[in-house]
Amino acid sequence: MSSIPLLTGQDGARLPAIGLGTYDLRGAAGVAATASAIDAGYRLLDTAFNYDNEGAVGRAVAESSVPRESLIYSTKLPGRYHRHDLARHAIEESLFRSGLDRLDLVLIHWPNPRLGLYAEAWKALVEAREDGLVSMIGVSNFLPEHLDRIIGDTGVTPVLNQILVHPYAPQDAWRAANAERGVLTEGYSPLGKDTDLVREPAVTRIAAAHEVSAAQLLLAWSVSLGVIPLPKSATPARQAENLDVFDIELTDDELGELAGLARPGEGADPMTHEEL
Ligand SMILES: NC(=O)c1ccc[n+]([C@@H]2O[C@H](COP(=O)([O-])OP(=O)(O)OC[C@H]3O[C@@H](n4cnc5c(N)ncnc54)[C@H](OP(=O)(O)O)[C@@H]3O)[C@@H](O)[C@H]2O)c1
Repeated sequence: MSSIPLLTGQDGARLPAIGLGTYDLRGAAGVAATASAIDAGYRLLDTAFNYDNEGAVGRAVAESSVPRESLIYSTKLPGRYHRHDLARHAIEESLFRSGLDRLDLVLIHWPNPRLGLYAEAWKALVEAREDGLVSMIGVSNFLPEHLDRIIGDTGVTPVLNQILVHPYAPQDAWRAANAERGVLTEGYSPLGKDTDLVREPAVTRIAAAHEVSAAQLLLAWSVSLGVIPLPKSATPARQAENLDVFDIELTDDELGELAGLARPGEGADPMTHEEL
């Protein structure tokens, strides 16, 4: 089993340098897929209220022989529950659905700025942490101005910001803004789901030069940036393959070539995207 390096965030929080995406892993098959990932070595599991699989992921955590304290169960609060009282209820519901006795990490899924309630939601997360429902709190898809608002309001900095990161969307400025605030960056869709990224000639050529798969090359690229990628796979062989990326060292020329794949405007705009 590969050993996954750890990154250090706010308040000394230690987070694995890679995690499992679980979107679409549901029901008994979802439990089995999450269990095989834990067996392969994944310790950070990314679910969400809106994925309808908090129970499946929680079941795999509860049934695993890996000690509970070695696993990070991470979920996300949906936009329709941003109002302070609703946010508290939703976090309690996430905890109930997980079947666990605590959540390790809760993120606000999207800022939904048109609703204008993400600052209330953040206060509810801060209180849930104080009350012991959750150990760490963070955000997802938060632009720098959203981070500044919640940090300014509460004095509490999110441990991480989960955003779209892959070579079409390298997010240089956004990642730098996270880092300036002491916020780790988690990367979603690191394999470029719903794009042709794994078939890009630059990606397949550099992968072949390192004798690794395109997926491994993309994950090594995320890791080289200090981003925590969250590859999703339901397939045990791919789950293991996706963990075997920490010995891949990209040259400056290769990084430069991959930087050339950036497409301005890739991904949904958090100022207008509504995730309810
Ligand atoms: N915060 C947010 O707003 C947000 C948004 C999107 C996603 N996320 C999170 O990020 C996670 C990952 O993103 P994603 O699910 O969008 O996409 P992804 O991880 O970029 O891609 C997943 C796709 O790649 C395939 N795949 C996995 N490993 C592979 C390999 N080694 N070779 C070839 N294909 C491979 C998977 O197929 P198989 O499963 O069949 O192997 C699946 O079709 C999600 O599951 C979710 O946890 C968060």
